[in-house]
Amino acid sequence: MILVTGGTGYIGAQVVLQLLGHGQTVVILDNLCNSSRTSLERIARLGGRRARFVLGDVRNRAQLDALFADFPITAVIHCAGLKAVGESVREPLRYYDSNVGGSITLCQAMAAAGVFTLIFSSSATVYGDSPRMPIDERCATGLPTNPYGFSKLMAENVMTSLAASDARWSVGLLRYFNPIGAHDSGELGEAPAQIPNNLLPYLLQVASGQRDVLHVYGNDYATVDGTGVRDYVHVMDLAEGHWLALQALMGGSGVQVWNLGTGQGYSVLQVVDAFTRTCGVSVPLVFEPRRAGDVAQCWADPDKARRELGWQARRTLDDMLRDAWRWECRLAAQHRPILYTPLLQGFWRDGLLRCVAHTAAIGFTTPRSAATARWQGCRSPSSTPGTAPGRTAATPSPWPRWSPCRSPHRRTAPRPPVV
Ligand code: NAD
Ligand code: UD1
Repeated sequence: MILVTGGTGYIGAQVVLQLLGHGQTVVILDNLCNSSRTSLERIARLGGRRARFVLGDVRNRAQLDALFADFPITAVIHCAGLKAVGESVREPLRYYDSNVGGSITLCQAMAAAGVFTLIFSSSATVYGDSPRMPIDERCATGLPTNPYGFSKLMAENVMTSLAASDARWSVGLLRYFNPIGAHDSGELGEAPAQIPNNLLPYLLQVASGQRDVLHVYGNDYATVDGTGVRDYVHVMDLAEGHWLALQALMGGSGVQVWNLGTGQGYSVLQVVDAFTRTCGVSVPLVFEPRRAGDVAQCWADPDKARRELGWQARRTLDDMLRDAWRWECRLAAQHRPILYTPLLQGFWRDGLLRCVAHTAAIGFTTPRSAATARWQGCRSPSSTPGTAPGRTAATPSPWPRWSPCRSPHRRTAPRPPVV
């Protein structure tokens, strides 16, 4: 049996599903501080089997001891943690307590129970502002740009020291680049409880009408179009990486580090444009100053994972965006089931025609009249009067394209490409 901490969260739930698909039994430990029990139902529906669930905290040693006593756990995938960068700056102690303290307590309980196989959800943030691109596992760590990043690096260091002290430990540090997307059924994805910090969840909320406009942080980086470049990786590919890593670690010893990314970077504007092209929905945006702590670019050299695990990201950016949008539509449908659900069901089955009707329906049924009114005069070049404001069916787009809304902050165009 595999213990997945944080298994009701965005990534943990996909990992659980992956394990169930490979015939494993799974127990989840989660305190539900950033997820809910509905993940369990979704996992059961998609996986055809249930994972066991324990409501608890990785910082609670007594709870962990009871968990290891109650279940025949052979390995742990440790996804539980806090991940909001801005919050980590405001509340560093909470982040170190949860991400570092929680990891230490978990390792102590594992050792006491004689369980020594561990996979840790780490992040490319441990590389900080790397001068080398693409980033391979030998690139220097040690200069993250915020407490969240430091907490990930500290947890990595704890596990590395532990494995050096006792050969029974077999630890995999998985450095995720930018996980996005959702399960390809559209039934399981990220459901942010607060205002999202990350690009994709924010973009989706703009596209579905929950927010007015996407704020693009910085258009003066030395990148293809001035906006930040990242290596976006499909969350299902990421989950497959955990399964392969687990197999590689079983019976092994020491610490292994693997980057999980595609090896391909995309700028913010490229993501927005790909979303509009793939999902048929335009996204109004404004340029803002750079976000503190951001790096200009960050993408992986994933070759080590390919060689050692046989892992390679298979899904494209379009797949990621399409699956993420399908999930977002499902979330939105929960709020307006009567009008929305039949359209949603036909959306992906019947193709473009349904897509047009669907996107129009979202626009007309979104409860945000003020924002919608503001959009009346903000149609993108290809939108037609009578369709949802600011939203259009998929049409070939000359890149870069953005909705020509005007706001006090809007710049007229991104700077020309620097590199
Ligand atoms: P998430 O917030 O959706 O999931 C984390 C889960 O852990 C949540 O269900 C939360 O309730 C639970 N949790 C938090 N603190 C806990 C505690 N002390 N005890 C028990 N449960 C606790 O986040 P996610 O995106 O699924 O991220 C999973 C892991 O991957 C995190 O450790 C995160 O730092 C790491 N990571 C995420 C990203 C990303 O972009 N999402 C990138 C790199 C690394
Ligand atoms: C961020 C964190 C990183 C963390 C990761 C996963 C920072 C500085 N980094 O990574 O530590 O591991 O999330 O939680 O926060 N962008 C916009 N508008 C938005 C949101 C983002 O333009 O509303 C831009 C960013 O400036 C960046 C790109 O989109 O260029 C990706 O941002 P994001 O999704 O937040 O990921 P990272 O910054 O790579």
